[in-house]
Amino acid sequence: MSNIAVLGASGNFGSAVSAKLEQQGHDVVRISRSHGVDVMSPEGLERGLDGVDTVVDALHIDSLGAQKSIEFFTRAARNVVHAAQARGVGRIVCLSIAGAANPEVNHRYGYYQGKAAQENFYQEADIASTTVRSSQWFELIPVLVHRVTKGPLTILPSMLMAPAAMSDVAAFMADVVTEPRPARNEIVAVRGPQVDSAANFARRILAAQGSIDGVQPKAIREAPYLGRGIANGGLIPADAHVTTTTIDEWLGA
Ligand SMILES: NC(=O)c1ccc[n+]([C@@H]2O[C@H](COP(=O)([O-])OP(=O)(O)OC[C@H]3O[C@@H](n4cnc5c(N)ncnc54)[C@H](OP(=O)(O)O)[C@@H]3O)[C@@H](O)[C@H]2O)c1
Repeated sequence: MSNIAVLGASGNFGSAVSAKLEQQGHDVVRISRSHGVDVMSPEGLERGLDGVDTVVDALHIDSLGAQKSIEFFTRAARNVVHAAQARGVGRIVCLSIAGAANPEVNHRYGYYQGKAAQENFYQEADIASTTVRSSQWFELIPVLVHRVTKGPLTILPSMLMAPAAMSDVAAFMADVVTEPRPARNEIVAVRGPQVDSAANFARRILAAQGSIDGVQPKAIREAPYLGRGIANGGLIPADAHVTTTTIDEWLGA
């Protein structure tokens, strides 16, 4: 059994992966500001990594801007690497977004540029790392809809996607964290089982539930304002583990 620190453990994904790891019998050190540790403070972080074998980075900043996102993810990754090296941690496993590191995909999306900087920092660092590139989750679609609905009209970005249930991605992540990993700086990917546009997934949620997280648009449209990379499948990883839960199963649950 391993001792695993989960950064962002109070968040959606961090709490899900912490629970999966504990179900498997591992010891989990939960790290977030709510748990009393700010990753921006190197000393506090280092203390948190005492006796830890593997660090899982599931941090997130609520910003769409490139500068803020790049600053946050780079500074956090730098602190994590220094603290991990100081405490003899064996591996860092970072949750990223499939396609986010591709400039053709991220050039109009500052948050993805932050994720690209995060990936890059870990992959270049002198410590073993695994980058888990996940497609979007079903849970993201209502968040997107909220963000782009004005009155009766939702205009989503044109986005071809293969969304997965977050719990399936957390289960995959738990396997990656606990299985022996071959490569030093490895990249793996995970995606959901069906490919369609964000607009069509949103329409299915609306049809099934009558509203999308409280929003009841009369029309859901799409426009390619996040660029062609995102519109044409740049977010769908080619060589990926495919999860099983379909949108209908997720809606049923
Ligand atoms: N949504 C998707 O479809 C999707 C798909 C693929 C990958 N991802 C990736 O999944 C990751 C997690 O997303 P999420 O939805 O779980 O995010 P979330 O719910 O917002 O959780 C973010 C976590 O980061 C912690 N955090 C933020 N700043 C911190 C700081 N300075 N020090 C310590 N902890 C800090 C937060 O805790 P405190 O606020 O308590 O500090 C929280 O636990 C992100 O990296 C995202 O890019 C998301």
